Amino acid sequence: IIVEAVTFALFGATGDLSTRKLFPALYQLDRAGLLNEQTRVLALAREAAPPEAQLARIEQAVRARIAAEEVDESVMQRFIGRLDYLAMDFRRAEDYASLAERVAPDRPLIAYFATPAAVYGAICENLAGAGLAEQSRVVLEKPIGHDLASSKVVNEAVARFFPETRVYRIDHYLGKETVQNLIALRFANSLFETQWDHNHISHVEITVAETVGIEGRWGYFDQAGQLRDMLQNHLLQLLCLTAMDPPSDLAADSIRDEKVKVLKALAPITREQISQRVVRGQYGSGYSGGKPVPGYLEEENANPESSTETFISLRADICNWRWAGVPFYLRTGKRMAQKLSQIVIHFKEPPFYIFAPEQRSLITNRLIIRLQPQEGISLQVMTKEQGLDKGMHLRSGPLQLNFSETYKSSRIPDAYERLLLEVMQGNQNLFVRKDEIEYAWQWCDQLIEGWSRLGDRPKIYPAGSWGPVASIALITRDGRSWYGDL
Ligand code: BG6
Repeated sequence: IIVEAVTFALFGATGDLSTRKLFPALYQLDRAGLLNEQTRVLALAREAAPPEAQLARIEQAVRARIAAEEVDESVMQRFIGRLDYLAMDFRRAEDYASLAERVAPDRPLIAYFATPAAVYGAICENLAGAGLAEQSRVVLEKPIGHDLASSKVVNEAVARFFPETRVYRIDHYLGKETVQNLIALRFANSLFETQWDHNHISHVEITVAETVGIEGRWGYFDQAGQLRDMLQNHLLQLLCLTAMDPPSDLAADSIRDEKVKVLKALAPITREQISQRVVRGQYGSGYSGGKPVPGYLEEENANPESSTETFISLRADICNWRWAGVPFYLRTGKRMAQKLSQIVIHFKEPPFYIFAPEQRSLITNRLIIRLQPQEGISLQVMTKEQGLDKGMHLRSGPLQLNFSETYKSSRIPDAYERLLLEVMQGNQNLFVRKDEIEYAWQWCDQLIEGWSRLGDRPKIYPAGSWGPVASIALITRDGRSWYGDL
């Protein structure tokens, strides 16, 4: 791939996301030969520290985040050589003059906002004021607002200066290899796509479970909660990619149009349905990786009265022809038993049954799309047990595809590597359009509103478990169970 030369300006370069994800991702792109020789990276932050000291910190952060075998000293020197640090106040128009001096006039400027969304409008206005808007693509990190109204304010502030074709809203789940593989799996295999509807699928589960707790982010997280932090974006995106109709091509808007149709078809969950359909949880103390860990309310800087959820599970229904009567069970939480992100498609039983009655409950076909860890796909099929003495005894066995074992030579790139590369190539496929964000908020807002009217408090679950017992009841009520919970 030949990637054009750009100026990459990272607003909020000393923040957690930049040091943990963005600089390491840029280094990896450089190592893979995917940064143009002329590409420059401007690290922008408020701290008035000497640039050399800041660059040394960035180098340290990159080294801390990559595997030992990925450290290539000559690439590291080349990478650090591309960097420049500039201290500025993002809200002050005057500070953009020194930024403009460092931006090559004839190259795209990628302006990456790793800052709170409240500053996005000011940055856009100041970029425009400095005459940089025409050449810029702006990259917006989540969260974009905390509800529909506030997300519209942010989107409109950006839209005053940038057309939608140059706005890249990040949902890093879209950059995960396995998530992109969903598109290949669904639309390059007629085997699956012909089965992908209510005639053949009984229900779908989407789980994104983490073992980590709040990791020093209590202040941010408590304002957000798991619904805003994970469900409104990552889980709904996974749901859209799983449920959408085939787009007519791979153009960004063709895919995004299909995703929007799914969001529009999501049945609202009424206040009366909330207690049956949605479970909010908050972790109490418990164990993680065999070690005792504190509960959410006992974490550093916690407000012991907080009723913010760290877990949510729910049943979503999509009101359209394809998915009529097929529930989508979604759940996500912190401090859960295992780090696990997967989509499980449960197929219906065969229409007629000819085997021994006592084996009937065994019969099931499932397609498991594992996003992390051990990225891969597994299809559970029924076969006969081997052996003369076994008769027609059935067993369920997996047809497995483990990506790192099968494609041995290639490491699985981090989502941000893919996303940064796509922005540099001007490809919006893996970014979220304004209307997607807004429909997703609209659907989530009714839940937030319902909870607040009902005075709902989250149910406590022990750290290291699969969430509140009510989450098990949510699915068993429909005669099903969460797949694979130990
Ligand atoms: C982020 C959330 O968007 O996703 C975090 O803000 C969460 O709270 C993270 O931990 C999970 O991402 P991943 O890629 O580790 O599954």
